[in-house]
Amino acid sequence: MRQKKYNPFQTEVISEDDNFQFSTFNFQLIKWYNENKRELPWRETTDPYKIWISEIILQQTRVNQGYDYFLRFIKRFPDVQTLANADEDEVMKYWQGLGYYSRARNLHAAAKSMNGVFPDTYEGVINLKGVGEYTAAAICSISYGMPYPVVDGNVFRVISRYMGVETPIDSGRGKKEITEWANRLMDKKQPALFNQAIMDFGALLCTPKSPDCTNCPLANRCVALAVGLVNKLPIKQHKTKTTNRYFNYLYVNAGEYTFIHKRTGNDIWRNLFELPLIETSEPVTEENLIASTEFRNLIAEGESPVIKLSLKSVKHVLSHRVIYANFYEVTLPETTRSFSTYKRIKKEDMDQYAISRLVQIFLES
Ligand code: ADE
Repeated sequence: MRQKKYNPFQTEVISEDDNFQFSTFNFQLIKWYNENKRELPWRETTDPYKIWISEIILQQTRVNQGYDYFLRFIKRFPDVQTLANADEDEVMKYWQGLGYYSRARNLHAAAKSMNGVFPDTYEGVINLKGVGEYTAAAICSISYGMPYPVVDGNVFRVISRYMGVETPIDSGRGKKEITEWANRLMDKKQPALFNQAIMDFGALLCTPKSPDCTNCPLANRCVALAVGLVNKLPIKQHKTKTTNRYFNYLYVNAGEYTFIHKRTGNDIWRNLFELPLIETSEPVTEENLIASTEFRNLIAEGESPVIKLSLKSVKHVLSHRVIYANFYEVTLPETTRSFSTYKRIKKEDMDQYAISRLVQIFLES
């Protein structure tokens, strides 16, 4: 373990003082959890299948929104075999709105690989498609009581503050250091309780922007608080770079019908359905869009659509991208020959297809 710059509570070798700091952490953390924990549906079970589903959902969304997704998902796919037998489009439909659709595809692929039985060793769990160290630790500790600490954003924050770790957490060294501390701090006799306690503590009290240090049961042994670093920790060395994309969606009004297609290729929203799309490298005006080759290629010879810009510059933020989307309504006769490479569906059937949150925003507007 690398020596910290300054830790008023820590000596070089593990000493009684360190042990005291570790056991204070465990005792106070678990006491706090027992008094403040959130009642959540995945906390009423130790079924590894359900814990797995909850953890993958919670990588995508906050607990409040994850709650409903979890209940719906488990109701439809109550066990590994039901999920394995399902059609991928249906799994995607249950994931719709959560984003990062590769997670849903991985869930489905992993379920198919299990032959109806969820693995019961750490190796078996971590080898499942889409399961990394964090998820494997969560499943193995919560379902099987194995002493693997979870290390997620909450844990990075709580431990870097409590132990005064200034190494950037987005470096290999920082991750290693926090993981080592998590291993040493963890109460090995109650890993399930410890892991869920530290997650809730990070989510509810030791929050990124306004931690409630006044009411914190760990305050008297927290290095960051003692040295005035609470708002500086954890440190990140790189800001994530984002790129802008410009999407022009076309919602076709052809009487009762409209057109959609399934996204393919190695890009966002793979296997989700969406409206016909013209992506441009920069924002385009309505005039330039209509004059573009991409647009003209969609329209059959002799047809003259009526075009209306109906939703302008919707900003949709994903993890590394910002999408600016314009939605156009394109009115054509019901028997149109335009959009011939797209799937023609009844407008009222649109809700049978898994679509991105962005297209959903338009359809609900
Ligand atoms: N975030 C990720 N996993 C969680 C869990 N099991 N409980 C609460 N929040 C979480």
